[in-house]
Amino acid sequence: MPPAEANSPSPASQWWRSAVIYQIYVRSFADADGDGVGDLAGVRARLSYVADLGVDAIWFNPFYPSPQADGGYDVANYRDVDPRFGTLADFDAVLAAAHARGLRVIIDLVPNHTSSDHPWFRSALAAAPGSRERARYLFRDGLGPDGAEPPNNWRSTFGGRAWTRVTEANGAPGQWYLHLFAPEQPDLDWMNGEVRAEFESILRFWLDRGVDGFRIDVAHGLSKDPQMPDLAGGLRAEGPAGEGHPHWDQDEVHDVYRSWRRITDAYAHDPTFVGEVWVDSPVRLARYVRPDELHTAFNFGFLLAPWDAKGLRAAIDESIESLSAVGAPTTWVLSNHDVTREVTRYGGGPLGIRRARAAALLMLALPGGAYVYQGEELGLPEVLDLPDEARQDPTFFRTGGAELGRDGCRVPLPWSGDAPPFDFSPAGRSWLPIPPEWASLTVACQEPDSTSMLSLYRQALRQRHELAALGDGTMTWVPSEADVLAFTRTPGFACVVNVGNEVAPLPPSLAAAPVLLASGPLGSAGEIPGATAVWLAVG
Ligand code: GLC
Repeated sequence: MPPAEANSPSPASQWWRSAVIYQIYVRSFADADGDGVGDLAGVRARLSYVADLGVDAIWFNPFYPSPQADGGYDVANYRDVDPRFGTLADFDAVLAAAHARGLRVIIDLVPNHTSSDHPWFRSALAAAPGSRERARYLFRDGLGPDGAEPPNNWRSTFGGRAWTRVTEANGAPGQWYLHLFAPEQPDLDWMNGEVRAEFESILRFWLDRGVDGFRIDVAHGLSKDPQMPDLAGGLRAEGPAGEGHPHWDQDEVHDVYRSWRRITDAYAHDPTFVGEVWVDSPVRLARYVRPDELHTAFNFGFLLAPWDAKGLRAAIDESIESLSAVGAPTTWVLSNHDVTREVTRYGGGPLGIRRARAAALLMLALPGGAYVYQGEELGLPEVLDLPDEARQDPTFFRTGGAELGRDGCRVPLPWSGDAPPFDFSPAGRSWLPIPPEWASLTVACQEPDSTSMLSLYRQALRQRHELAALGDGTMTWVPSEADVLAFTRTPGFACVVNVGNEVAPLPPSLAAAPVLLASGPLGSAGEIPGATAVWLAVG
């Protein structure tokens, strides 16, 4: 349960329907112990920054003991903290400190696979085919006379095949095990009762410590077609999954979430689940957030939408329509640790920044909750020119460098000072190099500048708290020019976004409305410049 400090989070009442949740990628947030890798003590030391931003909660990426074959998404022990990031006591301390500042905390749960260093997988390797130890994972005999061919043609999301052959105890080539991600991430068998019981126990372990919820990694991937048919008919290994896919978005996965929901519902502080669900339609997404399943799911349709009014509007409409049909709120997200940062996605340079500023006001005005990925509030761009030897993402290695991977959006935060690592670490180093030109993007540089991205996020988040119209609820589109998105929310609020590059007229009904906040300079009354968003007070 959350501690009972005077400033503890506001009463639990479906807080997740409106919450803005700040994503902390721990190893890149702030380093306290000087090894160049961020840690929980670093987060604690910088918690006032997060609270001052005006968000409601934090989502921590995995901090569990892990060989870090995939940035901690290869978990070797689900009930502890990796020494790189601290100790369980450090976790308890940062949780208490967050609660004391009114911030809720959700943590990342990785149920699709463990690390190959997990005791279960080590014992599976030591045990014989057909054993109870192997039954927790997806071991299969190979095809061909000597079993030298993998059991099917499934591919790893990170490139290469999704099967690795093991050597049996007698030294002979043996069975194959499934890994939809890296070979160091063997998939668990979710038909296995022991696997289910173990994760229910893990949920209770963290809920009893007081966490406010879980982000479910690869939530659409846990169940596989037991026949394990070949991938055929143009279905791809990477999401979003198409219908009929043998290892993504299988119907059986919903049983898991129904049993989990019964667990969280028994806790009075209203803990929440957010699913990382990559599926090909909002209708399939909505199945994960039915009333007895997960509370929310990331809305990747919005993140993936191109910067054009038609595409954005369609993504918004489809999400709201399908999720409200099951009574779930939408959650909007522009970036995370897996995708190219939006400043770069939207074109880079000054135009990319203008669009990202406008996108932030759009996102924070839409009905439901929202996610802010650390550094988004500083307008950090993707780092595209990291040296190969610094890279760590398995995608880069498993595609032979054909795909750069995700390191470019995971570069540590610049806090202050004129040179890398910008006070990210007291020892003057960082696990990925920080570009020297980020000197103008540091927190210290942006704080006093009322026109900075940081100031825009702070103002928007403050207003979001003050304005009754924002957060959960509904919206109504207002007729507008083709390149313009305009909508109202009650009481008394409108948002207009000019997605085009040319100045456009405001919708006549909003032309005289007082401005609450704008993403950039506004120019003549009754007009809105290109790549700009504005919040208006309406009568
Ligand atoms: C999710 C995580 C990603 C990770 C993958 C495998 O997509 O967000 O970072 O690599 O799952 O766990």
